Amino acid sequence: MFAILPLALLTSFALATPSIKRVDECDVSSLIIPLPSGQTTLVAPTNFTPTFIGVGVGVQNYTCGTTGTYTNVGALAEIVDISCFSESLFDDVTDVIFDAWEAAPTSITAAELINTLAIFDPPFVLGQHYFITNPITGSGLSPKWDFTSASLKGHPDAFAVGAKVGDLPAPTDSATNIDWLQLNVVQGDLANVIFRIQTRGGQPPTSCTPGSPEIFIRYAAQYWLYGGSF
Ligand SMILES: *[C@@H]1O[C@H](CO)[C@@H](O)[C@H](O)[C@H]1NC(C)=O
Repeated sequence: MFAILPLALLTSFALATPSIKRVDECDVSSLIIPLPSGQTTLVAPTNFTPTFIGVGVGVQNYTCGTTGTYTNVGALAEIVDISCFSESLFDDVTDVIFDAWEAAPTSITAAELINTLAIFDPPFVLGQHYFITNPITGSGLSPKWDFTSASLKGHPDAFAVGAKVGDLPAPTDSATNIDWLQLNVVQGDLANVIFRIQTRGGQPPTSCTPGSPEIFIRYAAQYWLYGGSF
């Protein structure tokens, strides 16, 4: 449909990685999340181990406030499993996905993009990430990770609604890349703790004209899910 990868890059992936399989064939429980040193905002859990590692590819949504700056009003992303890649390739895989997403025509959806990526053979979609009304307070928005329509179909509790407990500017190019986050799960059995790390893109322009329409900024990020009951 459209060219995505330089051949050299593709070849190196093809040699270095097995095809993506089911999550339970690629145990991630012993992996250590690469959090930046010298900060205490994001802290790896000691009571849970990683259960799912995926790359989210989608959009961050922003509305323009009366003061001329953008406010984040949610996101929508597909989450594709990367657990069967070597951990040393996670960041390269994230780059490949984001570069393809940035280069893709606006008519392409994230789900369609994932299917065009040669690094996946084939892709294994874990689920979707989106926002819902905060289920605890009944107002405002909460992030949700929902695997009930994809990898965990038939498991109605395979979702997680998060509450942010840590927010760190991206260690590299924080004007372009959205913050790294830690969230505690307040509803659902998919996970107990979720991290968003290795963010690519997603930041809005620094200013806007009040009254201008909502914007959708493409991003990719790694989501590391800990604990849960799946
Ligand atoms: C974010 O934007 C997408 C369209 O790009 C839309 O489908 C989704 O509902 C939006 N989410 C929120 C919370 O605004």
